[in-house]
Amino acid sequence: MAAEKYVRPQKHNSWFNVMPERDFKNLPSAKVDFLDSFVTLEADGKGSYNVRYEGKTPLLVEKHFGFICVWFGDNLQQADWPFPTLFEESFGQDFIISQPKIFKDTNLLDLIENNGDPIHFKTVHKWLEVNLSDHIYTDTKYSLKMQGKVKYAQSSESRLKNWLAKIMPATEYSQVLAFHGPGFGSGNIVTEPDIKAQLILAFMPIGENDLRLHIAASVDEKSFPKWMQTLFSFIPFVSLHDLVSWALTKAGKDDTEGDYRIWYTKRSLKDPKLLKGENNIIKIREWMSAFYLKDFKQPLQTEKPELEKDWAFLAVTGDVDKGKVNRFTVKGEELIAIQTSSGDYSVFEAHCPHQGAHLGHGGVLKDDCISCPFHKFYFNSEGQFIGTKTDGKPKDNMSLTKVAHQLVENRLEVLV
Ligand code: FES
Ligand SMILES: [Fe+2]
Repeated sequence: MAAEKYVRPQKHNSWFNVMPERDFKNLPSAKVDFLDSFVTLEADGKGSYNVRYEGKTPLLVEKHFGFICVWFGDNLQQADWPFPTLFEESFGQDFIISQPKIFKDTNLLDLIENNGDPIHFKTVHKWLEVNLSDHIYTDTKYSLKMQGKVKYAQSSESRLKNWLAKIMPATEYSQVLAFHGPGFGSGNIVTEPDIKAQLILAFMPIGENDLRLHIAASVDEKSFPKWMQTLFSFIPFVSLHDLVSWALTKAGKDDTEGDYRIWYTKRSLKDPKLLKGENNIIKIREWMSAFYLKDFKQPLQTEKPELEKDWAFLAVTGDVDKGKVNRFTVKGEELIAIQTSSGDYSVFEAHCPHQGAHLGHGGVLKDDCISCPFHKFYFNSEGQFIGTKTDGKPKDNMSLTKVAHQLVENRLEVLV
């Protein structure tokens, strides 16, 4: 049965945002959740801040792009590297910062890793074309070039995103995205015709499992068509820069919510069964692990011995819905069960061996095959991986982990 959960630590040597400075004055308390504890924040009256970890240890603090940022590392009072330069040029206006979004049960590494994963841009975000290239790994930075054909509205139910799709005239999208340690991401976006924008992903790890994300954006007004610049120059109180930058942060949040539907039930796998061409996911993981604190230790992961397993009640047969991937939790184990068209049952561990998505959340049963919600790979009723179509031949890259089951009258039992 499932090994102990593979742990991805949230405590890293990195710069993190504590909050946008604009929100400081509305703080209900000087205590702010941070990692598995808290920091206290106080203004020093001279335009800067004192920040203390767990109320005592002074942290290194800097203000950048409207965020109050702190260094968190093995030596909390001294950064191993200075705050990174996120952008070489400025468009001359302040970044517009989104409201925060809390992603429960999401490790910040999920978000970074996803950006090296071209298939999910097609399956989750419905990009029409995706090309990820120029992956560069340095001591503190990982960057890549993302190019594609994007129809923003395609994967969204948000009216706002639809609206953004209309005012952004281009569908050719190109972005150089860089992660500066695990704390900040910066994107230089160019669309065709040439509209330029800058994006900041500002992470804040909350506890061991949750993530808070702010997205900040700034567009280059001058890159917009002349008629649009002229039109906005006549509209009082609304600036083209602020409006489009704000819409961009909203679109970024919508996109992240698409991923979140997978993340919040996904399991981190120690050994994901990646296909050829997915090497960068392994490389990103290696790069990120260089930022783990020195005292981090992965818990021992041992399989439950067969002799310790026992038959346990899963469901009465009527509760296994034909035509759907049914999810159950038995003795803490997350399982899925299906009934095939011939009436037989199959039970599997719930998480996909490819990259750990939960097949019972968004997985679909089609022609007796299970499709995974993350990359739309299919597994047949024996759990064999058959590719991206239901009539594919079994391949030996990976398979679902079968769970033994038996029928006792109308009760389905599993060996766990
Ligand atoms: S996680 Fe990729 S297909 Fe399931
Ligand atoms: Fe994504």
